[in-house]
Amino acid sequence: MAIEKISHATDEVVLELEGVSKFFGPVTALSRIDLTLHRGEVLALLGDNGAGKSTLVRILSGLHKPDAGTISVSGVQTQFQRPQDARAAGIETVYQDLALFDNLTAAENFFVGREPYGPKWMGVLAPVGFKEMRRRTAARLSEMAVGIKDPSMPVGLMSGGQRQAIAVARAEQFARNIIILDEPTAALGVRETRSVVEIIKSLPAKGISVILITHNMQQATELADRAIVLRQGHKVGEVIASPENEQEIVSMIVGATGAPHRV
Ligand SMILES: Nc1ncnc2c1ncn2[C@@H]1O[C@H](COP(=O)(O)OP(=O)(O)O)[C@@H](O)[C@H]1O
Ligand SMILES: [Mg+2]
Repeated sequence: MAIEKISHATDEVVLELEGVSKFFGPVTALSRIDLTLHRGEVLALLGDNGAGKSTLVRILSGLHKPDAGTISVSGVQTQFQRPQDARAAGIETVYQDLALFDNLTAAENFFVGREPYGPKWMGVLAPVGFKEMRRRTAARLSEMAVGIKDPSMPVGLMSGGQRQAIAVARAEQFARNIIILDEPTAALGVRETRSVVEIIKSLPAKGISVILITHNMQQATELADRAIVLRQGHKVGEVIASPENEQEIVSMIVGATGAPHRV
């Protein structure tokens, strides 16, 4: 049965890239990329290996600086010098390797390395707000359908789906504008994938925009409003992410079509 996709995309532009380029020596990782993301929109970022997806994610996370082009968040041109700057702009990234600390619990993973708390939050210097944050963390973790029964268990002992859920929930707690997900279900089984997909689906209604990198075309068209296709550093297509367009999107990814496509 076909389920109607509900879009929460608004007219508000939360992110705009114009002419963003990135070079690594002789390699053009990204060439003059334009991109617009609206509040509540889910944008799939698609492309074969080496297309430039991770480079774009790193630029939006403050890990790389673009060699050319501009980035605007909510209409204000910004430069991310470091990851903290992207976070301060309300952008959270869930990397493929998740970057969780295996020896810490889910709740501890939420707050480690966070400003202004820093490493002090566990000690007596913890600000009063921490108790409330911990309560919210526990509530969010228990409502997620991945069965985290014991939030005090080190995440190293949890399943891939549970770890991914924690990483997404952590991003959700801190993201005011955008969550970027790099292959969020690549390493998961069918049931865990479904749970994580449900979590992703819940984000746009909360006013969060999502940039989703996936190789799973069905997932892209199920979750995303739009899809942008990169090939060898160039944006070669931008289409409505619908099942009817799957074949066309695949053609753009592998380079079987000629002219660039537009919505
Ligand atoms: N740190 C780096 N140094 C040199 N080349 C890089 C670096 N990161 C990415 N590249 C190159 O940039 C291109 C795009 O890579 P990447 O963004 O990782 O693509 P994708 O994530 O789509 O697979 C590739 O040719 C890759 O080899
Ligand atoms: Mg990559």
